[in-house]
Amino acid sequence: MPDKGFYDGREQALVKHTFIERYLRDQLPKVSRFGTFTFVDLFAGPWKSRCESYSDTSFGIAMIQMRLAKQRQADLGHSVRMVAHLVEKENFAELEMAVAGIEDIEIHLYNGRAEDHASTIHRKIGADGFRFIVIDPKGIPDPTKFSELIAAPNSEVLINFMFQFANRFAHTEKMPPLGRWLSLVASNSDWQTDLGELTGQEREDRITDMAREALAKIGGYDFAPSITVDEADADRTLYKLIYLTRHALGLKVFRDAQSLALEVQSSMRSERKAKKRSQTSGMEDLFASEGVVVTGERSAKFLERGRRLGKQSALQTIQAAGSKGLTWKKVWTGVLDDWPITEKELAWECSKWKNDGLVQISDWGKSRRPNDAQIISMSDLTL
Ligand SMILES: C[S@@+](CC[C@H](N)C(=O)[O-])C[C@H]1O[C@@H](n2cnc3c(N)ncnc32)[C@H](O)[C@@H]1O
Repeated sequence: MPDKGFYDGREQALVKHTFIERYLRDQLPKVSRFGTFTFVDLFAGPWKSRCESYSDTSFGIAMIQMRLAKQRQADLGHSVRMVAHLVEKENFAELEMAVAGIEDIEIHLYNGRAEDHASTIHRKIGADGFRFIVIDPKGIPDPTKFSELIAAPNSEVLINFMFQFANRFAHTEKMPPLGRWLSLVASNSDWQTDLGELTGQEREDRITDMAREALAKIGGYDFAPSITVDEADADRTLYKLIYLTRHALGLKVFRDAQSLALEVQSSMRSERKAKKRSQTSGMEDLFASEGVVVTGERSAKFLERGRRLGKQSALQTIQAAGSKGLTWKKVWTGVLDDWPITEKELAWECSKWKNDGLVQISDWGKSRRPNDAQIISMSDLTL
């Protein structure tokens, strides 16, 4: 996991980096069969890095994981080409310095605006291999500028959607790139007025869903789940990480990585709150030690609620399928796209339902958990 020591005062980046590291660690062995893996970082930085080796940056973390995966594949007798395309507008000289001397990864650097280099990168990568594209700007970009890259086959994408900006401006004409982004899926020309009437969680969900659906539409993606990253010291959303994949396996890897990232967020926020309390009271706080989560902490509550509602949603899907039932794969992919629950957690819950007689599962035999092809339906008693 990224070293927490480098993230004091920029804890949100730790959540993002924990996700990227876990995602790459789990996904790289699966996509190595493509022969080439390409990492694209359109807003690469380095930005606020505190570590000489840049292992607290998105590109630094990617390089480490790519190198490890390449070595592991070599040990198994497979050769995988690792390639990186990195774009940076303001800190290019530092980026050049940071990657100088790396020889086991083919690195292409671009000085200037991501919007101006995206097409060239897309052409250079060509049709071969698998690509993971990170789009992590400081503000709100116009994603249609990156549509060729995003829409390419065998790709997955992670976009940082600056929710706090979006929330402030989505109902106005003041941020044209955001207007273009959300209007791709607007149901009518008055969508901004409609948005202006929403508040709180309903508004947050509507804006986020529009952003997710528009990205899925630009790239032709089946799944576009998101992670909510909070401000370090306030119970408020700062940004959303939206992930695009066309594959069930990608969705599974995403929810596993999210689970870890949100647990890191939860313990980090609990720790900061406890430290503040002990500074104010002058007394030591029980929760100020590392890794302790305060009950009721926002992201812990979010995870708990998401897991509960995810299980409910699975049961509703099974119920709606009637006596014919549906495959386990259909159940879990539908749920994981919308709720922060891992496939493993959902599978164990489903096994419990089976053992309690609530659902029936085809060819169960001595199975301990459902597999993708098995058919699930409500049991005769509950139908
Ligand atoms: C949020 S930071 C990226 C952080 C990095 N992804 C990480 O997690 O370590 C955004 C970076 O984009 C750069 N930048 C700003 N506008 C840009 C543009 N139009 N094209 C490329 N880079 C840009 C900034 O200089 C900054 O380094």
